[in-house]
Amino acid sequence: MSKVTVVGAGNVGATCADVLAYREIAEEIVLVDIKEGVAEGKALDIWQKAPINQYDPRTVGSTNDYSKTANSDVVVITSGLPRKPGMTRDDLIETNAGIVKSVTENVIKYSPDAIIIVVSNPLDVMTYQAHLSSKLPRTKVMGMAGILDTARYRAFLASELNVSAKEIQAILMGGHGDTMVPLPRYTTVAGIPVTELIEKEKLDAIIERTKFGGGELVKLMGTSAWYAPGSAAAQMVEAILKNQRRVFPVCIKLDGEYGIDDCYLGVPVILGKNGIEKVIELDLNEEEKALLETSRGHVKEVMTVLDNLSK
Ligand code: NAI
Ligand code: 2OP
Repeated sequence: MSKVTVVGAGNVGATCADVLAYREIAEEIVLVDIKEGVAEGKALDIWQKAPINQYDPRTVGSTNDYSKTANSDVVVITSGLPRKPGMTRDDLIETNAGIVKSVTENVIKYSPDAIIIVVSNPLDVMTYQAHLSSKLPRTKVMGMAGILDTARYRAFLASELNVSAKEIQAILMGGHGDTMVPLPRYTTVAGIPVTELIEKEKLDAIIERTKFGGGELVKLMGTSAWYAPGSAAAQMVEAILKNQRRVFPVCIKLDGEYGIDDCYLGVPVILGKNGIEKVIELDLNEEEKALLETSRGHVKEVMTVLDNLSK
């Protein structure tokens, strides 16, 4: 039986659990939160939707009782503070690092073989924290951001070109922040290079909007997004549980790929039953390499902040 735990029953976690249930991605979904009753309530609400939306997975809620998460195949960590207006993702580091550390330790105690998908921000450095705390191989601890950032880029392109969002294929690399690296050279509309369909100024404007896509939503809503993030995390769970070998941008510790060592960055990977089955190394041009290097530098700085916190 496939079992998935989602830690954090807030906006992103509850959305992820809902998608996992109604799309029948896992057979059992456990929601955990620290706030008394919230996870139980949301799990019950999702289950009560089953007769209406016609699905079978069972949803279970738990207030901080990790024994209910035992033997999970995949664990999604969304616990932590979200961004408020005026905050960067990096401002969340101290609080969220403590949360991700304790959650990971609890998760591993009951599911030592789980694959972990981190969503909490600052994403790349929280993936680092979960990797440190879990002691799992790097291929089993990954961060969700690239699917979301790429989806924003694809959605903006679909609106501009007035085509179905399904037709836009794209890849985006780097850290989950303003230094992310969208790659127009690897963006197509049903196989047609996007550069043949859109003027450079418009494409550049879309790339800029994508980089600040998270901030745009924080400004509008007073907190960060959840529908697309929750769905993106569920899509990663699906690729793993169904061994789909899908190609997604995912945050992983780089061990020499792209000439980068010991840094957590989004890169294209193949996602399957073992987690990250392969890191795909693109042949980047000089401009793309320079952008990736800037992103690496930024993530590394925040990794150092984390290292100093634990000293
Ligand atoms: P939220 O505030 O709606 O939910 C967070 C939940 O975590 C709350 O219910 C809270 O009680 C729970 N929590 C806090 N400490 C906990 C602990 N020790 N154990 C269990 N649960 C705990 O926030 P939201 O909007 O769901 O965002 C969650 C995180 O995801 C934030 O850090 C946010 O910045 C991040 N995020 C990341 C994205 C990405 O692309 N990687 C996209 C969107 C959000
Ligand atoms: C987002 O990109 C804030 O990371 C969150 O929506």
